[in-house]
Amino acid sequence: SAVPYTVATGAPPSSDDVAEAIHVAYDRSLDLTDGAVADYIPELADTSPDLFGICVAEVDGTVQGVGDVDHPFTIQSISKAFVWALVCEEIGDEKLIDLIGVNNTGLAFDSVMSLELNDGHPMNPMGNAGALATTALVPGDSPDEQWEFIRKGLSRFAGKDLELDEAVYRSESASNQRNQGIARLLEGYGRIGSNPLDVVDVYTKQCSLLVTATDIAVMGATLADGGINPITGARVVSETVCHDTLAVLAASGLYQNSGEWLFRIGLPGKSGVTGGIVTIAPGKAGIATFSPRLDAAGNSVRGQRATAYLSRRLGFDLF
Ligand code: DON
Repeated sequence: SAVPYTVATGAPPSSDDVAEAIHVAYDRSLDLTDGAVADYIPELADTSPDLFGICVAEVDGTVQGVGDVDHPFTIQSISKAFVWALVCEEIGDEKLIDLIGVNNTGLAFDSVMSLELNDGHPMNPMGNAGALATTALVPGDSPDEQWEFIRKGLSRFAGKDLELDEAVYRSESASNQRNQGIARLLEGYGRIGSNPLDVVDVYTKQCSLLVTATDIAVMGATLADGGINPITGARVVSETVCHDTLAVLAASGLYQNSGEWLFRIGLPGKSGVTGGIVTIAPGKAGIATFSPRLDAAGNSVRGQRATAYLSRRLGFDLF
């Protein structure tokens, strides 16, 4: 049944409230078995569909979770949000709006047509075309340097050293012809300056970084906390970059379903095909859910329901 909407007062919930809400969200979502595990990357096809974890990391450093919050999975598209933030910190928002855009394409994450419809302009940094164009802008004199910049930057968001899942990286590298095609198309439109296949390789590595639900909750909490990681106390990006990143996520974090997500959850979020969703309650918390069964748009079915409950129950919904 629907959770009543209450206008957010601005006060954060108590830790006890969060703990109870996480358990209720888990119980209310566990019976959902709709959706399917992503199998277009062969190595992902064997993932257990029943894995389920929820974690909330508050900006005061309190981290609470239930279920499979320590189960490692590859970050996939969730990386797009944090790489965009790191690039924004380096080159500034105006350049990114100009080169890549911040609008929703209304099309699937791996759409080729979105480029064709817009003279090769990606429009949206959370779709693969825009994410590839963003990764192309990562500082570094070589793909290795760019990769290290990303790995270190995402590790600062997580507050721990993140590592590559070699098997998923190899599997996706052998099956990512579509992304190679998108990168070539970007090159053809003059939208990326570097070798497009190198860009795809760095992007595939960024997608293959291993995280847990706890890690992505802390990554989200860093954006909620104006760019300061609430566990390490280190500044990762500026407050302005956090604002810009959250605005991008509100528009496009759940692809063509972003409007519906905003309607139901009222917060910026980002999903990935391994079944993670990170959601940011600005000034309050990062919420992570992990459940691999996805809907047709590639978003976790249980994750959406659990996050909707938490957002309403804890007064996080921004509207
Ligand atoms: O580009 C890809 O196909 C993946 N490595 C990432 C896609 C993804 O996670 C889309 N999310 N729902």
